[in-house]
Parts: sequence; C-alpha cells; structure tokens
Amino acid sequence: MINFNSNISQIDWELAADIFHRAPLGERAPKKLERAFNNSYAYVFAYDNKKLIGMCRAICDGEYQAAIHDLVLLPEYHGKGIGKELFQKLREKLPVQNIILFSAPGREGFYSKCGFKRMLTAMAVFEPRIGDPERGYLEYIDTQQRNSVDRKKRDG
Ligand SMILES: CC(C)(COP(=O)(O)OP(=O)(O)OC[C@H]1O[C@@H](n2cnc3c(N)ncnc32)[C@H](O)[C@@H]1OP(=O)(O)O)[C@@H](O)C(=O)NCCC(=O)NCCS
Repeated sequence: MINFNSNISQIDWELAADIFHRAPLGERAPKKLERAFNNSYAYVFAYDNKKLIGMCRAICDGEYQAAIHDLVLLPEYHGKGIGKELFQKLREKLPVQNIILFSAPGREGFYSKCGFKRMLTAMAVFEPRIGDPERGYLEYIDTQQRNSVDRKKRDG
C-alpha cells in the first residue's frame, strides 16, 4: 500500500540518495541531502508499505513565496499517479499561492498536468554542472554568456 508522511527522523539518507541515482535525478551526497531536507520548509516522503520509494521538498517564506525541489520516485513506481499525489501532499503544506519550480527537461508535461504554467520571465544562475547548455536548463542569450560557460567548463 502506498502511503505518505513527513517523518524526517526516520529517513536512511544513503537509501534516499540511491533513489535520486536510480530515478534518475542526479547524484546526491547523503549528508548534504539530509541537510537540504532538514533546512527546507516542508517535505513529504512516499512509501510502499515500509519501503521508501520517493520524496520531495519545498523552501518557503511562510507568507508569499515557495519553490519546490527534488521531486523524485523510484523508476518502477513511475506512471501510476504516485508522483502527482506526492506533489499534491507537498503543496498542501505550503501556505502561499506563489510557487515556482524548474522542471527536469522532459518532465514539463507532468507539471502541466499538476496545474503549473511555463514562466515567461524566469531567469537563473546555476552551478556549471547544471548550467551546462547540454543539460537543457538554460538558454544562452548571447555569445558572451556562452563563452563564459565554455571557459568555466574548460577551467573546471
Ligand atoms: C516526475 C515524476 C515524479 C512523475 O511521477 P509519476 O508518478 O511518474 O507521474 P504520475 O503518474 O503521477 O503522472 C501524473 C500525470 O502526469 C503525466 N506525466 C507524467 N510524466 C510525464 C512526462 N514526463 N511528460 C508528460 N506527462 C507526464 C501522466 O501521464 C499523468 O497524467 P494523467 O493525470 O492525465 O493520468 C517521476 O517520473 C520521476 O521521479 N522522475 C524522475 C525524477 C524527475 O525527473 N523528477 C522531476 C524533477 S523536476
């Protein structure tokens, strides 16, 4: 039976990091992941009986703005409506109407089904690993911006 809770003290962060790896949603260091979740405003974990299968978290100022991050499920649980339910449970914990997120490339349709719309003026700076044009998150408006990314990649 699929169930959800926010009992963060029960989480095995090695296992949680492995879910990110397998989802896949990139590599996470268990200690950093633990701190990121603990420093978040709200989080929800999904279980199949007692087995941790997914999670998500949000940062929020409690009054105006929130941002959702790290929505992730083990691949064998995709496409069964669990992601949508997990996302909804997280939203219920947010006392604000302004919520932003950035979708992993190819997941926009999921967020659209959850009622989210594309932002017309979204702007971001990311660490080089995520900002790499090949990752598909950022649009490089001019050659100067692109050259600066290429330089950072080259110089590490
Ligand atoms: C993104 C993710 C959490 C979605 O969870 P899920 O349980 O597979 O999605 P659901 O089954 O709840 O889908 C809800 C709806 O979105 C649709 N949907 C799901 N993924 C989609 C996609 N990639 N593109 C378009 N539509 C999608 C489903 O068809 C469903 O539509 P319906 O309500 O009309 O039936 C899951 O696929 C995942 O963990 N992916 C890997 C990690 C990741 O990319 N996370 C997102 C980070 S931004």
